[in-house]
Amino acid sequence: MDKIVIEGGRRLEGKVRINGAKNAALPIMAACLLLHGPSRIKGIPDIVDIRTQIRILENLGGEIRYLEDGSLEIIFRDGENKEKVTAPYDLVRKMRASVCVLGPLLSKRGNAKVSYPGGCVIGQRPIDLHLKGLSALGSSIETKEGYVIASANKLRGTRISLKGQYGTTVLGTCNVMTAAVLAEGTTIIDDAACEPEVQDLAHFLNKAGAKISGIGSNALTIEGVKELHGIDYEIIPDRIEAGTFMIAGAITRGEITLENVREDHLAATIEKLREIGVEITTNGNYTTVKSNNDYQPANITTMPYPGLPTDMQAQFMALLCTVSGKSVITEGIFPDRFIHSAELRRMGADIQVDVPYATINGTPFLSGAHVMVSDLRAGAGLVLAGLVAKGTTHIHRIYHLDRGYEQLEKRLSQLGANITRVQE
Ligand code: EPU
Repeated sequence: MDKIVIEGGRRLEGKVRINGAKNAALPIMAACLLLHGPSRIKGIPDIVDIRTQIRILENLGGEIRYLEDGSLEIIFRDGENKEKVTAPYDLVRKMRASVCVLGPLLSKRGNAKVSYPGGCVIGQRPIDLHLKGLSALGSSIETKEGYVIASANKLRGTRISLKGQYGTTVLGTCNVMTAAVLAEGTTIIDDAACEPEVQDLAHFLNKAGAKISGIGSNALTIEGVKELHGIDYEIIPDRIEAGTFMIAGAITRGEITLENVREDHLAATIEKLREIGVEITTNGNYTTVKSNNDYQPANITTMPYPGLPTDMQAQFMALLCTVSGKSVITEGIFPDRFIHSAELRRMGADIQVDVPYATINGTPFLSGAHVMVSDLRAGAGLVLAGLVAKGTTHIHRIYHLDRGYEQLEKRLSQLGANITRVQE
């Protein structure tokens, strides 16, 4: 197993290019099951979650390869591999997002057998809303031996609300949308997620021949069509990767320019960073983060889009640990998503957690320590803390980071960080 070792204290400077969004790529790749013929998708990041999704789709009969220009070609052919409907436990357990093959499989092959994704360290993560939506479209669903087994002779349009205890559901909206595009009649999804990644999936499907309107709002209308065809498509830039690099610039009091950024997708993150005192300027596809030493503490609440993303919470926590004064974080999506706070405490942070709140009293400095990554974004928060900590930080279990950030240590090192990957 590898670990990351960081000698903190370097000011980061330079330029970094942001990759395509992992959370847009995963459901779009699954949606290729619905399309007849080849699709070529640009901007797919080279990360472990994408490799897992490729294996899942290959198991389902997909022909997948990288082309010379770096795009990923995915081919499913109508009428072939009808019997292949299983997403097995050993792949689904590696990545919960594999559950997004459920809607396309049901729609295209009439059956789906997908390992039930369990809870994880960021919380319970049920899929009841996914199943409620698919049932409303006419699917029968049972859970057997750890698998969701769904079948439908014909899916029919209907009106569905995806409102749950913590708002709507991102992948649930993707599943219901992908099941509805080929259903008979019109489907209205109320309380749909409108995250940029969900919008990207809808744009992808429309380009392939679907009729989805209301994109970007909380009510999607989907008129069923008879067939969808393969297309060329470019994934949106990853707003969480961009936000993570912005905080890398801010926390090291450096100056970084990010290329390939959609500023509109980052509005809440940028607004909060400016409130803290980080200077951010944008120029078309480029965003520059410039810092000073005069940061203010802040109160943060994570919310569904366009609110501040929960996937930026750990990174903001790391930053606020270095800002003198009291900050409060309210986790509005996954109330238990605070495991990283215990690791940050090992580095000298002063954080009290009383779910769903974390109160942070900024300390003059963090110090290097051995810390353990519990999930992808927690890992990003720990790397950011390590960049500014005095001394050496050893970050263990970095396979979580490899799931979602392409060559993170290499790109940070190109910006001037003293960071290396070491075999344990
Ligand atoms: N929820 C339910 N029932 C459901 C589904 C969700 O109660 O059927 C609850 C969840 O427990 C949570 C809330 O609703 O409290 C929102 O969960 P959501 O379903 O939106 O999360 P997700 O679709 O499983 C995606 C991202 C996560 C991101 C969340 C929230 C992907 C692959 N994953 O997960 O990203 O945190 O939306 O924005 O798109 C990450 O990239 O590190 C990551 C965890």
